[in-house]
Amino acid sequence: MWKPILPALLLIVSPVCLGTHVSQTRRFPNDFLWGVGSSSYQIEGGWNADDKDESIWDVLTHTHPEKIADQSNADISADSYHRWRRDVQMVKELHAGTYRFSLSWPRIMPGGYMNHVSTAGIKYYSNLIDELLRYNITPTVTIYHFELPQKLQELGGWTNPEIIPLFKDFARLVLEMYGDRVKIWTTINEPWHVCEHAYGLDYMAPSYNFPGIPAYLCGHNLLKAHAEVVHMYRDHFQKRQGGRIGISLDTSWPEPRNPDSAEDREASERAMQFYVGWFGHPIFSKHGNYPKVMIERIRNLSKEQDFGIRSRLPEFTTEEIHRIRGTADFFGINHYTSNLVTSNGHNNTGGFPVPSFNHDMGVVESQNEVDWPGSGSVWLRVYPKGMYNLLMWIHREYNSPEIIVTENGVSDRGGLEDYARVDYFNKYLSAVLDAIEDGVNISGYIAWSLMDSYEWKAGFSEKFGFYHVDFTSPQRTRTPKISARVFAQICKTNTIDWNYRPKLEQEQKLVVMAQHPAEEDQSRSSAAQEAISWSLMGALLLVLLR
Ligand SMILES: *[C@@H]1O[C@H](CO)[C@@H](O)[C@H](O)[C@H]1NC(C)=O
Ligand SMILES: *[C@@H]1O[C@H](CO)[C@@H](O)[C@H](O)[C@H]1NC(C)=O
Ligand SMILES: *[C@@H]1O[C@H](CO)[C@@H](O)[C@H](O)[C@H]1NC(C)=O
Repeated sequence: MWKPILPALLLIVSPVCLGTHVSQTRRFPNDFLWGVGSSSYQIEGGWNADDKDESIWDVLTHTHPEKIADQSNADISADSYHRWRRDVQMVKELHAGTYRFSLSWPRIMPGGYMNHVSTAGIKYYSNLIDELLRYNITPTVTIYHFELPQKLQELGGWTNPEIIPLFKDFARLVLEMYGDRVKIWTTINEPWHVCEHAYGLDYMAPSYNFPGIPAYLCGHNLLKAHAEVVHMYRDHFQKRQGGRIGISLDTSWPEPRNPDSAEDREASERAMQFYVGWFGHPIFSKHGNYPKVMIERIRNLSKEQDFGIRSRLPEFTTEEIHRIRGTADFFGINHYTSNLVTSNGHNNTGGFPVPSFNHDMGVVESQNEVDWPGSGSVWLRVYPKGMYNLLMWIHREYNSPEIIVTENGVSDRGGLEDYARVDYFNKYLSAVLDAIEDGVNISGYIAWSLMDSYEWKAGFSEKFGFYHVDFTSPQRTRTPKISARVFAQICKTNTIDWNYRPKLEQEQKLVVMAQHPAEEDQSRSSAAQEAISWSLMGALLLVLLR
């Protein structure tokens, strides 16, 4: 059963301390939507529960554990397949108005085809949605977040045009099952990762590592599949169900290495067209189709590389261009970090394989290790201005679409006293607020992530959560970090309070003492770990007894 939750949502996200704060505090718009996110493979576990079949990530982690930083897999992970009630409690504790999660295709349709629909899989997400609605939390559902059924990968996955009707079948089923209760949908999470990282590089499953060709086939089919789902939603569901549908693109911000160099500024613009424009231009621009610079560069390079007159980037027909253009009710953007960019001279490979996406883009990226603080991930450095620049770019490039930040967050290597994460959110949210004040239409912000999760090839080594998860305990105990309290305060008050830096509370301290030895230094023998944790517990007892 669905009851109109949006008005209720406005109530819970509206400022509670209006009138008491007469200070300079800058405030987010009253109806701003706050949320936290997760994704199915990263948290659910239950990899073979009930009739679930393998996804491409099950296969990658089981057959090539050496490709994962800690040789782990997400067979159990945070066990959200069984602990979803606790997850919903956490979203509630954070005062978030929305919870963004994704649907596992092989859990719902194990073989990828309609002939086998899993009752248990359908029920799992149905229960989760009902539980969220019970607390007036609106579900934001990602239909595809990297979890392709392995059976479909064996047909070529996203490089096979057959994926278009198959994805549409999967989407139709979930819209029928959940659309009465879900009002915010995104079709696909991070197409750039789905295509380039998975087909061009050996980074994400299925790890094709085949640069320069299949990623563009993937992108072509993905855009058509996305458009078909949005048309189906608009034609058959939207009026009755009253929700909205979009897509989540992702990019780092390419900051010109030398801002005074026209060539570096051009490289920055080209990087934006390749990372965001590849998918953004066909959907959000006035005329549709791939960005001109992408079409021309890849056509020219293909010719030079003796591919003949057919570009490695497939062409859309005029009809397809019209069919794809305008297929989003909002622009979802995932953003974490920035890079310094400079041009890769036309005939210089820049160390990239020829052909490859990076060589086609003609941009060389590096990090600012001097001015941008690091994190728990080598690729992630803190540069809040990049968030502002990115939002302004989308605003200008696509005629001021409504934007929802669907992911933003930072990693560390563990611990509950995550003041670096607090600083990151304060600074990045401040950049979002700057963009809003400069006229960018941003209606929501969904932080990554609700809890520590399986971070793909980084395994469990990088932590992005507001909640710590004890991956060694059978209960997968969740404990709020300092950042959870700060983010809850932001959601509740609609403001950033730079002075709010709470200290660890007693029950959190107990968790730290019990868990840290095991977590901080995995090379220690377990006997040593046990001795240390017992001595810490002893010390704590002495303190308490005094
Ligand atoms: C592609 O080649 C054409 C013809 O040589 C040239 O005019 C154009 O500037 C090139 N475009 C790009 C983006 O390199
Ligand atoms: C790049 O190299 C190709 C083949 O070696 C050549 O035909 C082309 O003119 C060169 N382009 C530039 C801009 O130097
Ligand atoms: C943002 O975009 C939405 C959807 O187009 C529109 O309804 C709303 O009025 C816009 N808000 C602002 C502040 O421009």
